[in-house]
Amino acid sequence: MSDILIIGGSSGIGLATAQQLLAQGANVTATFNSKNTDQAPGVNFFHLDVMDQNASMDFIPESLDGLVYCPGSINLRPFERIKPADFERDYHLQVVGAIRIIQAALPALRKSGNASILLFSTVAVRSGLPFHSLVSASKGAIEGLCVSLAAEFAPKVRVNCIAPSLTETPLAAQLINTEQKKELNAARHPMKRIGSPADIANMATFLLSPQASWITGQVLHVDGGMSAIR
Ligand SMILES: NC(=O)c1ccc[n+]([C@@H]2O[C@H](COP(=O)([O-])OP(=O)(O)OC[C@H]3O[C@@H](n4cnc5c(N)ncnc54)[C@H](OP(=O)(O)O)[C@@H]3O)[C@@H](O)[C@H]2O)c1
Repeated sequence: MSDILIIGGSSGIGLATAQQLLAQGANVTATFNSKNTDQAPGVNFFHLDVMDQNASMDFIPESLDGLVYCPGSINLRPFERIKPADFERDYHLQVVGAIRIIQAALPALRKSGNASILLFSTVAVRSGLPFHSLVSASKGAIEGLCVSLAAEFAPKVRVNCIAPSLTETPLAAQLINTEQKKELNAARHPMKRIGSPADIANMATFLLSPQASWITGQVLHVDGGMSAIR
């Protein structure tokens, strides 16, 4: 039975991943920040705010087969309206937070025979989209971190990244809070729909599994064709 830690397992993609892993028989430890959840009974939840540099990491299990880092943002604004401090805050949430938890969890991951780390990017790193500079700057760093750590940790620990397009989660709520917005966004995708948390969790659970043991240093685009098809 595998032991998986999900940072941000209380919502959206992290919650769907936790639910799928539980159904597969994994031991799942997860964190929440603002909302505890009863949507994944069986998951061992702990509070963590990754913006708190003094937060305890005592919840990290002794041995781990997988670490998933979900905290992210989608603040879409014209570049001129974004302050340098906004970029710093976003970088802290998405990149420094991931770095701190990876450093803390590495000893536990190194005890496993099939350990892997899973990070999240966005379709907007590969496909330039207006008003995405804030999120793309941090997610571009995440993709660089993914490939670098995959090189450094091989062959003991695999590191991969999923780059989703618009997925129906609380994080994306503002972009899809009317039927019209949903339809317009669905139409922009070659597959003519927006993603579901399960679409992304399907890839996440595969990448964490032994079936993916020869896959590392990859950015997997799960985006309804957005990044590849015109
Ligand atoms: N949804 C999309 O359209 C989309 C598209 C491209 C990329 N992504 C990426 O996919 C990942 C997952 O996104 P999602 O849509 O599933 O987001 P979500 O529904 O907002 O879930 C994010 C999770 O991270 C936790 N979290 C947020 N801020 C935190 C903090 N300061 N400290 C600790 N935990 C924190 C949340 O906890 P609480 O809920 O308890 O506060 C929640 O469990 C993100 O990295 C996002 O950038 C999403």
